[in-house]
Formats: sequence, structure tokens, C-alpha cells
Amino acid sequence: MRFCLVKVDSSRRSAFEFLPLKMVGTCSIEPYTSDIMKAHLLKKIQQKDVLVGVIGLGYVGLPLAVNFALSGLRVLGFEKDGKKVENVNAGINYIADVEDAELKDVTGKKLLEATLDFSKIADCDALIICVPTPLDKFKKPDLTYVEDSTATVGKYMTKGSFVCLESTTFPTTTEDYIAPILERETGFKKEVDFWVAFSPERVDPGNQNYTTRNTPKILGALSSDGLEIGEALYKHAVESIYPVSSPRVAEMAKILENTYRLVNISLINELALLANQMNIDIWEVIEAAKTKPYGFQAFYPGPGIGGHCIPLDPFYLEYIAAKYHFDLTMIHTAGQIDTLMPHRMMVKVNFALNKVSKPLRGSKILILGVAYKPNIADDRESPALKLIDELVRKGAVVSYSDSFIPVAQTANGHTFDATPLTPEIVANADCVVVATRHSNVNYDMILENAQLIVDLQNVYGGKTTGMEKVVKL
Ligand SMILES: NC(=O)c1ccc[n+]([C@@H]2O[C@H](COP(=O)([O-])OP(=O)(O)OC[C@H]3O[C@@H](n4cnc5c(N)ncnc54)[C@H](O)[C@@H]3O)[C@@H](O)[C@H]2O)c1
Repeated sequence: MRFCLVKVDSSRRSAFEFLPLKMVGTCSIEPYTSDIMKAHLLKKIQQKDVLVGVIGLGYVGLPLAVNFALSGLRVLGFEKDGKKVENVNAGINYIADVEDAELKDVTGKKLLEATLDFSKIADCDALIICVPTPLDKFKKPDLTYVEDSTATVGKYMTKGSFVCLESTTFPTTTEDYIAPILERETGFKKEVDFWVAFSPERVDPGNQNYTTRNTPKILGALSSDGLEIGEALYKHAVESIYPVSSPRVAEMAKILENTYRLVNISLINELALLANQMNIDIWEVIEAAKTKPYGFQAFYPGPGIGGHCIPLDPFYLEYIAAKYHFDLTMIHTAGQIDTLMPHRMMVKVNFALNKVSKPLRGSKILILGVAYKPNIADDRESPALKLIDELVRKGAVVSYSDSFIPVAQTANGHTFDATPLTPEIVANADCVVVATRHSNVNYDMILENAQLIVDLQNVYGGKTTGMEKVVKL
């Protein structure tokens, strides 16, 4: 068998330079068709001989990279943050959903390495983009991370590569942004020279039962070839794949999941405010409604919605809907309710202090929990931080305790160090506000020592003694 070097252009190294050369007649060369490249890539995937590039090693990218590596695939993580690169290469874990021992294992075996050198994208067969998709200050999608990282992939990517976006975004992003940027940067043709797909990450940080590996993975590609390659690849990292007909279906499915949560949590938050006015315990109402064996799923109220997904993703859909002359009123209204929740919680604290003849201004308020949900070290978009800003604006003297978050910074630029949770510190506060329900907190100790408690998480639900000092949501 003979081998031939195929170069795409003078500057770009082709992934197929060492493919077996097919001879037609005696002297002409049959070009490497899409079919040949696909067969080659599938074979490499099957033989675990692929190099998977993961762009962005955060909450989504690192667990995914570790899962691919655990299955025996070689993974190269591309990350802009040098500290994360250093940590990964030293086997030091910084994401709670990743097992320390697993990261150490795969980095020790050199199955997973991280790099700041993006030119190594040229060595990868598959590239998975896991970069942030925030909203800008006008609540509009900020796709710059996605666009920049895709352009970088395109700058170095070789022919015959598979590219998959995992960042949450509005439907049509893969078709209208990812594929065109890659075509522009490479000069290659999509679904002929490379394949493009979208597969949303559905990780639920802190969830002990469902992880990246055992959560079904939705996958939509621009072509049946891309879908086949994507399925073959992801099979190594996840237990089940749910293929759909296009990237836009996969993109929309992810946003549907998070919109469903935004709308329902906002609904129960609004009902909680009404119930309070009507002297009805919303928590008791939810328990009662839950006895219906069908057609009802319980959502629980709180000070607002946090995290990098639910408060943001639905507004990606609202943005693109406008292009189709759609006003997504449900999302808009849910967003309004959510935006107002921290303010309303500040009013609740003010009201609780009034009952004991204290003003909000000058009162010492201890916030319990600033992570956006229980038992995780993530305070992105946390409503507790927004509540802190509201309280500080009204002149309260705020401190917080959260064993998961040693330092907290609010949007208004206030920085706090976490305070330890001792009986003295609790007793010294004019009001303790339970904002996040961490399970490592001794709530009985707080009930015993606090002067006044605003319980936004129903941690004292079912308690009968000592409740005169507790104001519930
Ligand atoms: N965190 C979650 O629970 C979750 C769940 C599902 C989906 N998502 C989605 O996944 C995407 C990533 O979210 P995340 O939580 O992992 O974000 P993250 O901020 O934790 O991680 C993103 C990483 O990408 C890096 N990065 C940014 N630009 C880069 C570039 N050009 N090249 C290389 N690295 C770059 C950042 O330094 C960071 O480490 C977002 O679209 C998010 O909406 C997040």
C-alpha cells in the first residue's frame, strides 16, 4: 500500500496526510472524499485513537473532558485561564462535580492534558466548545465567547474534524454562527470537509444521582453523517444519546427545559407573596397539591433564581423570537417576577424588623448562604447577593456565612469575607436571613440563638417551638 501527503493549502496541515493513497488508473489520485474522511474518523473513534479537544474547562467542559478521558480517549483541554490549565495538569480539581481521584487518574495517565496553546487544535479530531454564554447588561445574548472560540477552532482545525457546540444558546446559533464562522476561517465546506453538531449540556451542579455520564444527551447535527460521528464519539462519555433531527431542535430543547423552570419557579414565587398576604402557608399548600398523583410537579419558592442557566437562557429565546415577530410574554413576565424578588425580600426583612421596632438602616443582618443553590460553591447570579445589594443600599450592616463561598462579591461591587457561624455571631445579628438551604448548617443552633429569623427556604417548616421569632416567606 502507498501513502500520500495531501495538503489543503500551504499553511494548513491536513489531518489526512497519512491516509492510504487510492490510485485511479495508473497516475491520477482520487481525492479524499467526505465518505473516506468520515470512515477514517469513525474508525479512529471506534479504536479510541481520536484526540478530543474541549474548549473551555469550566463547570461543563471539565466534567465532560474527564468523562471522555475515563473512557480511554485522549483529551486536550483548551482554556484561556492559565490557573485552570496549571491545576488540571497538576491533577488539582476545582469543579465539585468532578471526582478528585478521577481527575488525578486521567491526568496521571496523560489521557487528559490542558493547554493555553490553541495551535494544538490542529492535532484534534473532534472539538467540543463549552464556553460561557452570558447576557450583556441590556439582557441581550452575548455570543462573543462562542464566536471567538469558534473562530480560533476554525483557524487551526484540520479537514475531517467534527465540531460540537455545548454552550446553551438560542435556536439557529449552530447553523447561523458556528458553521459559517468555521467555513470562513477554514475555507472548507461544512458537512463535506468537516461536520457540525449541537449537544446541550444538562448538568445539574451538586446532583448526586445524575451526572454528565448518566444524563441522557440530546444531539442534533447538520447532516446524518455528522449525527453518526457525534453519536459514535459521545457514546464513549455518556450512557445514552437522544438524537434529534437538527441542531435547532437540540438548541430549543435545552431552552425549553430551562424556560419551564424559570416560569414555574417565578409562578410559585409570586403565589408565595400572595399567600403571605392572605395568611396562607405556601409550603403547606405545595405539600397538599403534591398529593395529586398526576399532572402536578412541585416547584418551591425562594428569594429568586440563580446560576448560569435558568435566569439567562430563556432570554436567549426571547431575543431570537423578536426576529420572528414573537413577543414571548410568559418568559418576559417570569423574568419580571424574578428580577423583583430580591427587592421584595428586602421589604420582607424590613417588615420583620419593624415588627420588633427596629429600622432596617443600621441593623445588623446576617445572610445564611449566598450560593445560588444548596451545597454548591457557585454564587453566579445568586439572588442572595442581589438581596445583599438591596439591604446595603437601605443602610443595613450586612455580613454573610457560607462554608462553600469564602469570599462574595455583589454586582454593586461590595466584597465580603464569609463569617464563621457561631452562637455569638448569630446572637449579635438583629436579623438572620436564611437565603440558601445548605445542609451543613445547624439550623437548631440558629433558632436557639437568633433574635429574629427571616426564613426564605422553609428550613423551619414543621417546627412548633421557638417559631415566634421566625418570619417565613
Ligand atoms: N454551569 C452549569 O450548570 C451549566 C449547565 C448546562 C449548560 N451550561 C452552559 O454551558 C456553557 C459553559 O458554562 P460553564 O458553566 O461551564 O461556564 P464556566 O465559566 O464555568 O466555564 C467556561 C470556561 O471557558 C473558558 N473560556 C472562555 N473563553 C474561552 C476561549 N475563547 N477559549 C477557551 N476557553 C475559554 C473560561 O475561562 C471558563 O473556564 C454556557 O453556555 C452555559 O450556559 C452550564
